[in-house]
Amino acid sequence: MMYTLFLVLCLVTSTTSHTSDGMHSTLKEDMELEKQLNLINKPPIKSIHTKSGYIVDCVDINKQPAFDHPLLKNHKLQRKAYFGKNISETNVKTSPTKSPYAIEKVRCPKETVPIRRITKDDLISGKSLFNDHVLTQTNSLSHSTHLFLIRVAGPYYGVSGTTSVYNPNISPGQTSASYLYVENGVAGDTNKIVVGWHVSPQLYNNTATHIYSYWMSNNFKSGCYNILCSGFVQLSRKYYLGARIIPISIYGGTMTEMPITLIQEKTTKHWWLTVADELVGYFPQQLFSNLASAEQVGWGGLTVTSPGSSSPPMGSGHFPDRDFVHACYFRNISFRNESRQDYGPEVKFTRPYNDASSKCYDIDYYGNLRGEFGYALQFGGPGGYC
Ligand SMILES: *[C@@H]1O[C@H](CO)[C@@H](O)[C@H](O)[C@H]1NC(C)=O
Ligand SMILES: *[C@@H]1O[C@H](CO)[C@@H](O)[C@H](O)[C@H]1NC(C)=O
Ligand SMILES: *[C@@H]1O[C@H](CO)[C@@H](O)[C@H](O)[C@H]1NC(C)=O
Ligand SMILES: *[C@@H]1O[C@H](CO)[C@@H](O)[C@H](O)[C@H]1NC(C)=O
Repeated sequence: MMYTLFLVLCLVTSTTSHTSDGMHSTLKEDMELEKQLNLINKPPIKSIHTKSGYIVDCVDINKQPAFDHPLLKNHKLQRKAYFGKNISETNVKTSPTKSPYAIEKVRCPKETVPIRRITKDDLISGKSLFNDHVLTQTNSLSHSTHLFLIRVAGPYYGVSGTTSVYNPNISPGQTSASYLYVENGVAGDTNKIVVGWHVSPQLYNNTATHIYSYWMSNNFKSGCYNILCSGFVQLSRKYYLGARIIPISIYGGTMTEMPITLIQEKTTKHWWLTVADELVGYFPQQLFSNLASAEQVGWGGLTVTSPGSSSPPMGSGHFPDRDFVHACYFRNISFRNESRQDYGPEVKFTRPYNDASSKCYDIDYYGNLRGEFGYALQFGGPGGYC
């Protein structure tokens, strides 16, 4: 069977300036937010107004928001990582920008990086969504369906995989995501980095699909979505967190895929992120209380909904069926262990995790399918009352 695999990242999102309404923030909180906003939104060298109406600022690479983090005051910008195989902005081939689709590219000038301009409302909803995670752990508003590697085969120093990209039907207040992650630390001191795509009207004020990430240290004591706080060091001049992905996969047809790798560099212990073979940037090790290695890595989906409401679709909204054009998938998945080599996970070292009813979501790991799929899994489903 022939299908064309496209990765198209369109640097378009929505969310523009909007006034906060219904938010009872005190004057003090308001001033604090303004302060944070001024810190995050640096004076741009160039501003790009995307078609969707929001703004990307090209900011001096040495003055980007990351360096406002108190623990990164004396951080020296690192432009390259050494993983055995060198990855850098210059030796990575450019991703498929010549696609038959209309793509709005962001091309920031040399020595600048693209940063999505953030409004006060973005900050408020981003924070509340991040804090929701704490709630969801007890209120079970959130469902996770993923595959993880057992501790015995760890510790881990990297995770990668290529996920198909969809646009599940989401209502306001809901989220649906496909992601991979690295995690370390016992309850109370969890450290985690998550990267993937999601639909989250609360974060973007639209129902489009976006590249996203969140990191957390100390069990949500610090961290955030995308760059809603300082920490992530951006290196790419094209791709950035929060970028819209368009077009998305067509059920039974053309797939849009997003290859992601998250790898720790041995000497610095920074976690480097590549998307579609482009080095996007890194999460400095200083951000974490305990992420010198990961005791768990995994791949899968997540949904969030408000209490009493039905959970949204996960992935494509269809159950795994081993045919790779219906359910959402991760293919060519691999992990990196102490040998600092990449391996496909043997089935015996993996466990599926699904905290929802199998009437809502499911996950299937097939091991090594060889060929273009490699080690592959499928996950997702229609949702409902799980
Ligand atoms: C969200 O988007 C809608 C329509 O695109 C717009 O009318 C509304 O003002 C936006 N809301 C916020 C809070 O930005
Ligand atoms: C990576 O780059 C470093 C510094 O330029 C060089 O010493 C090393 O040999 C390179 N490694 C590979 C595998 O190309
Ligand atoms: C890394 O994982 C591979 C594949 O499971 C295994 O053969 C190898 O022994 C592991 N190496 C270490 C250092 O754990
Ligand atoms: C799988 O991913 C590795 C990098 O992790 C890449 O070198 C390889 O070409 C990929 N294989 C396929 C079939 O996509």
